[in-house]
Amino acid sequence: MKYLALCSLGLEKILSNELKKMNYKIDKANDGMIEFSGGEFDYYNLNLNLRTAERVFIKLGEFNAFTFDDLYDGIISLHLSSFFPKNGKIIIDKVRTSRSALYNQSVIQSVVKKAIVEKLKKEYKINSYKEENGEYKIRVYIKNNKVTLALDTSGEGLHKRGYRKLVSEAPLRETIAASMILKAGWKRKHVLIDPFCGSGTIPIEAAMYGLNIAPGLYRNFVFETWFNFDKSKFGKYKKNAIENIKYTDLKIFGFDKEYKMIEIAKENASNFNLDKYIEFERKNMESVTLDFEEGYIITNPPYGDRLNDKKHAEKIYEQMRYLRKKYPKFKYSIVTSHEKFEEFFGSKSDKKKKVVNGKQVLYIYEYNK
Ligand SMILES: C[S@@+](CC[C@H](N)C(=O)[O-])C[C@H]1O[C@@H](n2cnc3c(N)ncnc32)[C@H](O)[C@@H]1O
Repeated sequence: MKYLALCSLGLEKILSNELKKMNYKIDKANDGMIEFSGGEFDYYNLNLNLRTAERVFIKLGEFNAFTFDDLYDGIISLHLSSFFPKNGKIIIDKVRTSRSALYNQSVIQSVVKKAIVEKLKKEYKINSYKEENGEYKIRVYIKNNKVTLALDTSGEGLHKRGYRKLVSEAPLRETIAASMILKAGWKRKHVLIDPFCGSGTIPIEAAMYGLNIAPGLYRNFVFETWFNFDKSKFGKYKKNAIENIKYTDLKIFGFDKEYKMIEIAKENASNFNLDKYIEFERKNMESVTLDFEEGYIITNPPYGDRLNDKKHAEKIYEQMRYLRKKYPKFKYSIVTSHEKFEEFFGSKSDKKKKVVNGKQVLYIYEYNK
């Protein structure tokens, strides 16, 4: 079976590496989408364990379409009853088109829906299709006249782990925090410090990774509503994930100048019983003193998207030079929307990665020496 895993644009390599570690061979990786093959129920394991994917789709089919007739016929040619029941709620969730003859999203939506329903009526030999049970969300991608039909197995985006009940003003997406941690090469034996921790996303993601807690362990997925949901199989994957947790001491610290943020971060960590693995403390970045000579500073300082905030953010980046001077042996990974962060921080990064998530554009700056 073919799968598609989605990530923010720019993070394809990190997600591909995660998949490779799970023994998948990557067929294609571009435009925030990784294509690979896997077993019939691998999406249980993928949703449970991937830290940097936004969603996991089953690829239902791929064909060329220049007209709506082609689109309809292409869907009719697919075998669909192994994925849909005779009474599922079918939702054409999103249509994305580029450089193609077909572009009218609402017409595409209705043609796809009609063709799927007609094909299922034929396969199930029924006269009418009642949409009653289970949610089946479909995405249609049309690029260069090639249609890809994808069935969402995740439901809510995978960044929603379930621990973040409270957030800061500008919370970082959990999947981007996890990507920074994996990309930087942080491991459980290393020190990790987030001097601008806000609601605690980076320290919490690090603790989950450090203890090998599967990111999807405490949430639900849409496939649990499906007609072919195998509860005992999914239970085995979950049991396996629980057995793989390695409780061990970690050296993870989160600081923020706001008391309120520290309270929120502590509460979020305690939602997953991670409070004893992370030390959160109210501290100004300017007064951070560490008992360690080496480690990782992985952080998300204020962005300053608005004009006045921008000046303030730039000042903070200048003040961050102090950290680098005082702790030169640390590795740094800093994410911000500011394209010129390096100018203010006073040195050029070893790696700069642009990450695009919807309308948000971020840059991850890494300093490795
Ligand atoms: C972009 S937010 C971090 C969001 C966080 N990654 C999350 O997911 O919630 C930046 C944080 O930096 C904190 N901050 C601003 N100036 C600071 C300073 N001088 N020292 C320490 N923290 C500061 C703010 O209170 C805010 O929580």
